[in-house]
Amino acid sequence: MNKHSKARIIGTGRYLPERILSNQDLEKMVETSDEWIFSRTGMKERRIAKSDESTSDMGFQAAKRAIESAKISAEEIDLILVATHTPDFVFPSTACLLQARLKAVNSAAVDIQAACTGYIYALSQAKAYVDSGVYKNVLIVASEKVSSIVDYADRNTCVLFGDGASACVVSCRGKGLIVRDVRLGADGDLAELIILPGGGSRSPATEETVSAKLHYLRMEGKEVFKHAVRRMESVSKECLDRAGLDESQISWLIPHQANMRIIEAIAKRFAVPEDRVYRTIHKYGNTSSSSVGIALDELLHEKPLIAGENILLTAFGAGLTWGASVLTWSEEESYE
Ligand SMILES: CC(C)(COP(=O)(O)OP(=O)(O)OC[C@H]1O[C@@H](n2cnc3c(N)ncnc32)[C@H](O)[C@@H]1OP(=O)(O)O)[C@@H](O)C(=O)NCCC(=O)NCCS
Repeated sequence: MNKHSKARIIGTGRYLPERILSNQDLEKMVETSDEWIFSRTGMKERRIAKSDESTSDMGFQAAKRAIESAKISAEEIDLILVATHTPDFVFPSTACLLQARLKAVNSAAVDIQAACTGYIYALSQAKAYVDSGVYKNVLIVASEKVSSIVDYADRNTCVLFGDGASACVVSCRGKGLIVRDVRLGADGDLAELIILPGGGSRSPATEETVSAKLHYLRMEGKEVFKHAVRRMESVSKECLDRAGLDESQISWLIPHQANMRIIEAIAKRFAVPEDRVYRTIHKYGNTSSSSVGIALDELLHEKPLIAGENILLTAFGAGLTWGASVLTWSEEESYE
């Protein structure tokens, strides 16, 4: 709520698979064109994980980098929160797989499922644990192998998504980005708008569910678009108000990278100049929960922040879910 909040992001990391899937590649797979994709979404290419590379493999790479940049050891991590809707397995959690690989022997571990809003949902939980003094160091990992649930014969969805991972360490110690506030929302009445219908207890996997393609994601793009702009705008306003900031104090806007037109609409509502809106959509597409964390890590590497600069993160996804967070760069060390 205020700039004296204890919780701060003291390290970030990201991982993108090497393989590039370009609009030209997609032209050979479905009836589409570079012109259609770019003009409707702002995407040129996206990254696709190898067939033997899983969500935890990508998350591990991002997590290692975040821990390194936070200058802590894996043993100091108290809790691992993994935001994903493409886990390695239904259970055990991807967080437990990462806990073992990172040798974070003193850490609890759990997955959070809020689709594309997962990073911000995890940030809210990490902040609550750290501000309340329950934990000192929380590792957030947002990792998605969206290509594993995309039907590459469906042009409505296959052009939109890519794979990737991001991570951060939220701590009461050190210096970095103070987590001023996090606001969240959900509307389960609109669950059908983005859904993966098969494989859960409602429709367990059978030969019939596989041939009916129930294990691929389905989306009503036009409807989702409208809700995305409206919800990200209102939750961002609420978050700025609670942090005591007005629109002119946004130094950087990092919206979920789902569609360039959605990003531009949000930027316009908050009058954020074009060069202060951080975008990765042209090169990575929509990487779901990992998208705002990937953009945040890139921004911090490319444009070192100065004390007092504010970042507004906002995201939106299946559920429906949405969220926003205001982060403020501080040079002051905390030695709690
Ligand atoms: C999906 C999306 C890009 C579609 O853009 P749009 O401007 O709404 O598309 P339109 O409705 O104008 O066009 C749809 C038409 O294009 C066609 N089309 C869809 N995908 C296409 C593609 N890849 N290439 C060519 N044509 C395509 C459709 O079949 C449809 O054709 P029809 O009108 O003959 O039925 C857009 O709605 C979107 O980004 N929505 C939000 C999605 C989102 O954010 N999801 C993630 C949430 S985390």
